[in-house]
Amino acid sequence: MDVYEILEKFPEQFNYEEIKKDLSSCKGIVFCGMGGSGIVGSFASRWLEHRGYDKPLVVVKDYTLPKFVDKDFLVICISYSGNTEETLSNFQEAVSRGIKPICITSGGKLKELAEKEGCEVYEIPKGYQPRFALGFMLSKLLNLLGVYQEELEDAKENLQENLSKIKDTAKRLSEKLYNYVPIIYATPLTSHIAERWKGQINENAKTPAYYTVLPEMHHNEVMGWSNPLLRSKFSYIIMFDEKDHHRVKLRVDITKKILEDLGVVPGILKGEGNSYLARSLYLLHIADWLSVYLAELYGYNPFDIKIIDRIKRELSNA
Ligand code: F6R
Repeated sequence: MDVYEILEKFPEQFNYEEIKKDLSSCKGIVFCGMGGSGIVGSFASRWLEHRGYDKPLVVVKDYTLPKFVDKDFLVICISYSGNTEETLSNFQEAVSRGIKPICITSGGKLKELAEKEGCEVYEIPKGYQPRFALGFMLSKLLNLLGVYQEELEDAKENLQENLSKIKDTAKRLSEKLYNYVPIIYATPLTSHIAERWKGQINENAKTPAYYTVLPEMHHNEVMGWSNPLLRSKFSYIIMFDEKDHHRVKLRVDITKKILEDLGVVPGILKGEGNSYLARSLYLLHIADWLSVYLAELYGYNPFDIKIIDRIKRELSNA
């Protein structure tokens, strides 16, 4: 499949399954994973928090688990390849603390180790690059965490029905971002989306990109705008969700106004859909298309990840 076919079929990666876990007895949930697999944990953590889950949610993108994670925590290890050393390290550390992590993977060492330890493994289709299999991993995870059938199906339909709008927005914004370093300003309810935007632009379009989150950025980042020589090297996107705190939404308006007063026109984006899940996936999918259009403008192959592969190779030989 070429990249466009994969993206056209993205909504089909989401499917309802009856695999819900009983979350009542665990002290909290730890999501482990890196890059295209790690974003799945960031997304699920935000979504659970928004729907009112009231225990600690920890996203680990490092070799070690926090000290407070003990056998009463639910640990979920997500690695598309199953061979990511940070996630394997998290798995081993969890096992050494008496935890049996749940694993989401297409195979690799993670599957092997998990089966040996008698852990639950949820397998997803092979043959993709991890970041293009986000839907399979996220769908599995949301089902494990108890997404409602209507909620998931509505979010999937929302993507299908809005596909041409998503593509048009992505095309327009790719032209805006071309030849600039993209800067994404997000809100607490869209920070996981901004993380995905950054990753997709980095990996698919071979472009540096950065994101920062309101309200914190109003206490530092904004001063960088004072420098006209440097601020003109960036192109700005502001994204938010309709359910963000009302003071955060006011801050979005102020951010836009100040940038416009400085002669900078930011792209403003709000997710569309009936639920937080639907709106998040809508915004997230814009980045998938945008990053591929941007790759096309620069003449890059979106699948090429030579530098990431080199780092993994050097580490495995060390
Ligand atoms: C490659 C990609 C990377 C990987 C990351 C972790 O497509 O998106 O960000 O996701 O290097 O590898 P996995 O996902 O196999 O654990």
